[in-house]
Amino acid sequence: MSPILVPQSQWLPSKTFAGQVALVTGGGTGLGLEISRGLAALGAHVAIASRNQAHHQAFLEEAQAQGWSVESLALDVREASACRDLIDGLVERHGKLDHLVNNAAGNFVCPSHRLSANAWRAVLSIVLDGTFYCSKHAGIHMLRQGFGTQLNIVATYAWTGMPGVVHSASAKAGVLTMTKTLAAEWAPYGIRVNAVAPGPFASEGAKGNLWPDDETEERIRRNVPMGRFATTQEVAAQCLWLMSPACAYVTGDCLTIDGGLSLGAGRLFADGQRPGKRDEPR
Ligand code: HXC
Ligand code: NAP
Repeated sequence: MSPILVPQSQWLPSKTFAGQVALVTGGGTGLGLEISRGLAALGAHVAIASRNQAHHQAFLEEAQAQGWSVESLALDVREASACRDLIDGLVERHGKLDHLVNNAAGNFVCPSHRLSANAWRAVLSIVLDGTFYCSKHAGIHMLRQGFGTQLNIVATYAWTGMPGVVHSASAKAGVLTMTKTLAAEWAPYGIRVNAVAPGPFASEGAKGNLWPDDETEERIRRNVPMGRFATTQEVAAQCLWLMSPACAYVTGDCLTIDGGLSLGAGRLFADGQRPGKRDEPR
């Protein structure tokens, strides 16, 4: 089934996030960019934060053309004090923080026995440490406010495991457990914490680090029961839905958006894909 493209402004009722303030880490590229677009199109003030502000330029230009309220901030999520200062500053300027999206990540394919300690740390510190630092400091303000949502981006290999990405799979498993833990700790204070687990979708970071050539990309695509990657729009729309009042009673959950990929993992007995004589209905 081909993806259905719906403009961001129609993903949810217009102005769903009007008057609200959101922070999206890694919001200048890939999925983070699409989430940022959606939030801004539905009325939020959106701050995007990452290491390289050149990555923010396209969003800033689009925001100007669309009349969205946005800002670009430099942040390396591996630095706890930088996360604290950035979030404190955001709240000081805007009076509150309604939404945090922990989207920033790093990844590459490397067999575990060849992964250096530094390479392990590079991914763990972005994905696991960075998510905790931002969650904690946003949480401090949200606890005071008595409301807020946090959304974490994981991957289905957080629970299936995946050869070649032990660093990312271990970090995402930690983030998934963090999601449930913080959701339980903070539910009495009006804070919801959820996650999404997308299957593969195209982004420069993923293409460069995970499927650098067309052959690898095609092999991965063939493994997806739906036969295609997700679009960033399809994933971002579900992210916004989880953050919206439509999910006011949902916390600590993880929504899988993977075209059936994790269900088909292994395909031990049948690939189920090739109709033939013996597959006629009986
Ligand atoms: C082996 C590698 C490596 C590779 C880096 N390293 N790339 N080892 N294979 N391909 C090692 C380096 O040699 C070094 O170890 C250590 O990792 C740190 O490398 P740096 O280049 O100094 O790291 P840094 O500049 O901090 O960059 C972080 C990064 C990079 C994670 C390595 O890839 C990055 O910035 N990525 C951001 C974008 C991204 O990855 N997006 C993909 C998201 S997709 P030594 O020992 O030599 O010092 C995703 C989920 C996909 O996350 C799920 C699909 C289903
Ligand atoms: P992407 O475009 O490479 O996004 C990664 C973002 O993280 C970039 O904007 C990058 O910006 C930022 N970032 C990296 N290190 C950072 C750091 N230390 N501090 C602050 N920001 C940092 O990749 P993507 O595919 O859209 O990934 C988005 C999310 O989806 C990630 O959590 C990823 O794990 C998850 N995901 C992706 C896939 C997929 O198939 N693509 C599947 C499942 C889950 P700077 O370079 O400017 O810092």
